Amino acid sequence: MKLEINGKSIEIPEAWREARLLWWLRDGLGLIGTRFGCGVGACGACTVHVDDAPQRSCLLPVSSLEGRRVRTIEGLADPDGTLHPVQQAWIDESVPQCGYCQAGQIMSAAALLESEPAPDDERIERAMSGNLCRCGTYARIRKAIRRAAEAQS
Ligand code: FES
Ligand code: FES
Repeated sequence: MKLEINGKSIEIPEAWREARLLWWLRDGLGLIGTRFGCGVGACGACTVHVDDAPQRSCLLPVSSLEGRRVRTIEGLADPDGTLHPVQQAWIDESVPQCGYCQAGQIMSAAALLESEPAPDDERIERAMSGNLCRCGTYARIRKAIRRAAEAQS
C-alpha cells in the first residue's frame, strides 16, 4: 500500500494505516510543518494538498490515501529551493504573527491559485474561510494572495 508524499513514493506502514494523515506526517515522517489545531476539521491548521486539492489532514485516514498524491508545506517550494509564489508573497507582506496557523493558510492559498490563477476577492474569501487565525492576520493574508496572483500573471 503506497502513496506519494512530496514527490516520493512511500509505503504506508501497517501500524499507521488506521491513523489520521496528520499524525503519520508529524509523528511517523517528521513532517512537522503541518499543524494540529482542532482535530475536527474546523480550523484549517492541518491543511495539505491531496491530488492538488486542499484537505484537512486531521480527518483523513491514512488507509484512504492509497495511490494518491499528498503535498505538505515542506514540499511546496521547488526542489532547487525557489519558493512558491505564495510563500514569497507571505514573506513580502510579513503575514505571520505567531505563525501557528500559517502553513495551513499557505497551503489553502496555494491550492486556490494553482486552480484559479486570478481569483476575485469573493473567491479568495470563500477559499480561505475555513482557515482560522487567532492572531487576526486576515488582512495581510488577503493582501499576500493578491500579490502572489499578480506575481504569477
Ligand atoms: S486540526 Fe485539522 S482542521 Fe483543525
Ligand atoms: S498567526 Fe497566530 S494563529 Fe495565525
